[in-house]
Amino acid sequence: MEINSHVAVVTGGASGMGKEILENLVARGARVAIFDVNSAAGEKIAADLGDDVIYCQVDVTDEDSVAAGVADVISTFGAIHICINCAGIATGSKTVGKEGVFPLSLWKKTLDINLTGTFNVLRLCAEQMTKNSPVTEDGGRGVIINTASIAAFEGQVGQAAYSASKGGIVALTLPVARDLAGYGIRVNTIAPGLIETPMFESLPEPVVESLSKTPLYPQRLGKPSDIAHMMIAIIENDYINGECIRMDAGLRMQPK
Ligand SMILES: NC(=O)c1ccc[n+]([C@@H]2O[C@H](COP(=O)([O-])OP(=O)(O)OC[C@H]3O[C@@H](n4cnc5c(N)ncnc54)[C@H](O)[C@@H]3O)[C@@H](O)[C@H]2O)c1
Repeated sequence: MEINSHVAVVTGGASGMGKEILENLVARGARVAIFDVNSAAGEKIAADLGDDVIYCQVDVTDEDSVAAGVADVISTFGAIHICINCAGIATGSKTVGKEGVFPLSLWKKTLDINLTGTFNVLRLCAEQMTKNSPVTEDGGRGVIINTASIAAFEGQVGQAAYSASKGGIVALTLPVARDLAGYGIRVNTIAPGLIETPMFESLPEPVVESLSKTPLYPQRLGKPSDIAHMMIAIIENDYINGECIRMDAGLRMQPK
């Protein structure tokens, strides 16, 4: 699918990978809506990028909030062709550890934002995509890209909830692609490794230094632009569907 002149929703677009992909989309002629809870950052990005970007204060876990955001996009830009799910949180706690048992509230929050939030947004965006006239030779009406993590495959100590939430995103990719194939909507997921975004800012420098040596090659942390590059390829290449692509420079996470 061509990017130019089409409309994208990017969740988590106020920071990190979401911000990077939205800037790439705008540079290629798309109009983009940021769905994020961080209104200060979202409004600033929208103001900086001009009329092609709107900020919608959306909590991805909330049905009414996402529906209101989608309605805002339709009234401003008229359609949705691309949905990119980047909103997410990183959480950690051992199942049973020195600090006690894993808090069920943390489990529910992690699953709610990362997994339910992803499905909540993609289903309401897909509903709008079904109304599009085909925009590709193959009858394509839309593209959905989700962000999982390699923790879906090699979760580390303390990552039970995070890994389950990301594993759920990997697992829903094929059945949702099957559900939406008849409408010409493709669904893919990226599983990033270690990417240098604000999520990393809370980690001490020596930890970041040692993590950056763990990928096979190139031996560095990934950049948000590495992920955006793959997202652009997925949008433009109509033959990628129902797939989960690792973006980790060959990294296989160890238990700790
Ligand atoms: N950075 C990494 O190394 C890494 C690795 C693998 C996977 N990921 C995943 O990639 C995605 C993007 O991560 P990032 O590093 O760019 O993170 P980030 O913290 O920079 O950005 C996440 C954004 O999501 C938003 N958000 C959080 N909860 C929300 C909610 N309920 N509704 C709407 N917006 C919400 C935040 O406000 C923030 O702007 C996440 O899903 C993360 O789990 C990150």
